[in-house]
Amino acid sequence: MIKKLLSWLASPLGKIGLLILSLIVISGAVWGIGQTQTVPEQPIDFPHSLHVGLGVQCLYCHPGSLKGPVSGLPTQTKCWGCHQQIAKTKTSALLAPLVQAVENNQPIQWVPVAMVPDFVRYNHRPHIAAGLNCEDCHGDVSKMTVYENPQVLNMGWCLNCHVEQAGEDEEKLIRLTDCGTCHY
Ligand code: HEC
Ligand code: HEC
Ligand code: HEC
Ligand code: HEC
Ligand code: HEC
Repeated sequence: MIKKLLSWLASPLGKIGLLILSLIVISGAVWGIGQTQTVPEQPIDFPHSLHVGLGVQCLYCHPGSLKGPVSGLPTQTKCWGCHQQIAKTKTSALLAPLVQAVENNQPIQWVPVAMVPDFVRYNHRPHIAAGLNCEDCHGDVSKMTVYENPQVLNMGWCLNCHVEQAGEDEEKLIRLTDCGTCHY
């Protein structure tokens, strides 16, 4: 057992594994310290649960997730399409910032929560194409109000899933764990 492990560690793949392992520890520490686990204050306490419960699709509000790196957040025009017809909009304190944004024609300043640093290459497209669901990475948003990451989006998290996805396929493992796959 130990012999097997040692000879694996001495092999090229083992060396890569060791390097990756130590980098995960370092990068996890660096990114983990930078990211607090508390959810930031949003300009509107947007209830995901209510809207997803109404049957509004994720992609209606975040259409970019299928196309490229930026999913996008809805503008007030999209909210207003429904909310101008909803009586509560005029009286709800929760919705006052929306009414204000529409009246002043000023964008709502949502605070990004799901993000990786600029030096990381992330794109939704290959992930959705591989059959993953939003929930696999973003948690059960239908039970959230404002969005909250279910886990820290660090290198270890990416690599764990990539190693799992590669399974026994060594060519795929090399491709999905290659530094250049995720770093510019
Ligand atoms: C498909 C239609 C639709 C869209 C699009 C939509 N909403 Fe709503 N929203 C509703 C409905 C219906 C309710 C429930 C109204 C009620 O309780 O009378 C609601 C309720 C809310 C509430 C809770 C209000 C309260 O006082 O309880 C907030 C806040 C809200 N929406 C914000 C937004 C924002 C911000 C957007 C755009 C990002 C948006 N909505 C887009 C239909 C929509
Ligand atoms: C494989 C994991 C994964 C899956 C599956 C996934 N996401 Fe993401 N999502 C991420 C990561 C990582 C980021 C941060 C990206 C960045 O900083 O550029 C992100 C960012 C976002 C953002 C905010 C930043 C932006 O691009 O505007 C939204 C909105 C979003 N995702 C929506 C979705 C929706 C909707 C789905 C399902 C159609 C989905 N995601 C599926 C991992 C995933
Ligand atoms: C009616 C519009 C609407 C629908 C439907 C909706 N969202 Fe959102 N989403 C928003 C708004 C507004 C925000 C910004 C406020 C916040 O962070 O909660 C947001 C934020 C997010 C973020 C974080 C974005 C960032 O910049 O960090 C993710 C991830 C996300 N939504 C995923 C989903 C998923 C997955 C679904 C479907 C299960 C979904 N959303 C359905 C409006 C919507
Ligand atoms: C839940 C699982 C999962 C997570 C988490 C995940 N990925 Fe992926 N990733 C995949 C799958 C599946 C593929 C498609 C593999 C294939 O080509 O068969 C993929 C493909 C990719 C590709 C394209 C690779 C290529 O050769 O075309 C990049 C780049 C990528 N992921 C980056 C990231 C980054 C960066 C993160 C973390 C921020 C991340 N992924 C998190 C499952 C995941
Ligand atoms: C599957 C995607 C993925 C692969 C493959 C990957 N990384 Fe990363 N890496 C990330 C993400 C996401 C971050 C940012 C979050 C963090 O620090 O954990 C990161 C952060 C880092 C950091 C920390 C930088 C800092 O300032 O915090 C270093 C160093 C790094 N990666 C080097 C590497 C090297 C070297 C390889 C190849 C052995 C590699 N990465 C492979 C996704 C990946």
